[in-house]
Amino acid sequence: MATPTAYLNEEITSLKEQGLFNTIRTIESPMEGWVEIDGRRVLNFCANNYLGLANHPRLKEAAKQAIDEYGIGPGAVRTIAGTMSLHNTLEDRLARFKGVEAAVTTQSGFTANLAAIPALVGKQDVIFSDELNHASIIDGCRLSRAQVVRFNHADPDDLRAKLAETEITGRCLIVTDGVFSMDGDIAPLPDLYEIAHEHGCILMVDDAHGEGVLGTGGRGIVDHFGLHGKVDVEIGTMSKAFGVVGGVIAGRQEIIDWMKQRARPFLFSSAMTIPDVAACIAAIDLLEESTEQVDRLWSNAEWFKTEMNKLGFDTGHTVTPIVPVMLGEAELAQTFSKRLFEEGVFAMAIAYPTVPRGKARIRVMNTAAHSPSDLEVGLAAFEKVGKELDVIS
Ligand SMILES: Cc1ncc(COP(=O)(O)O)c(C=O)c1O
Repeated sequence: MATPTAYLNEEITSLKEQGLFNTIRTIESPMEGWVEIDGRRVLNFCANNYLGLANHPRLKEAAKQAIDEYGIGPGAVRTIAGTMSLHNTLEDRLARFKGVEAAVTTQSGFTANLAAIPALVGKQDVIFSDELNHASIIDGCRLSRAQVVRFNHADPDDLRAKLAETEITGRCLIVTDGVFSMDGDIAPLPDLYEIAHEHGCILMVDDAHGEGVLGTGGRGIVDHFGLHGKVDVEIGTMSKAFGVVGGVIAGRQEIIDWMKQRARPFLFSSAMTIPDVAACIAAIDLLEESTEQVDRLWSNAEWFKTEMNKLGFDTGHTVTPIVPVMLGEAELAQTFSKRLFEEGVFAMAIAYPTVPRGKARIRVMNTAAHSPSDLEVGLAAFEKVGKELDVIS
């Protein structure tokens, strides 16, 4: 007799037929500019390890020392017995780094959105959400049970129009990704601020891909636009540029105080682990000491994007180190990625449902962990495969 979940096999077969089945690669070495997969050393163009900190000696040493001093697990949720002095130190340091009054950490960037949105708005309220916002924002909005109005991507005029036609009886929240991770473009935050200010809406930005990347020494999108004190809530993650894992909600003191009372992943899921917290503090130390890694990230990204465009690749409208190589159909993107891998370059194909149908791409994540000669290796592979598959001439 068929099992109750037998239907999943049909779904999986259908995904495979459409070229949409995710093949998960296993990394057999530290997370760096080159990684080992299937026993082969390949150029890593996939990781969000923007600053090359995931295997940095200072972060590793901080984690080891903290384990010796405090152990590993927090043993509890934050509100019971899971708040250790290191958690408070990290939150103070994050707040200072971001130029806000206070910050609170969660287990990941995903849970930071699930924590913050339902704590801010509820059934009687309205959320205006960019149509390309990250899944964790979408899920946070759903959990809040507020009415969700999607506005056209990065389009302040559409947001204004949607606000004008929506009856708001409770509170309103405008929420956007800072950097859109599939395209590498940036939210028009100054315009969103003007609109939020005019309408008395709460403004929230998820700076997952802006932290450690945008702004002075990687202080993020709010710093990039000089909007300190104007964006109410900033969400962040320590899983990308910081090279570790963990989420953060940052903003005015009252917001953070409220999160500690009502944000469910904070109240009902255990705290960040000790080594993660210690490594995050070391990452902030490094970012505050020097802009070298951030500068290298940007110069690598600029070089790679320019050279790809010269070869004739369409890299969309990115303005960040994320370089999408637009290919169209999912099957072409999968074939391209497979061929790159055979050429020693690990660059994943991204297709529906992560991006709209017909907009499949290879997403190249530039990092400070790459040397100029690494980038040349990557470029040569793209040129070879691009010509072979008739993407460029
Ligand atoms: C905009 C955005 N928010 C949140 C997340 C989730 O972050 P984390 O991996 O820390 O859960 C991501 C990661 O892909 C992201 O791009």
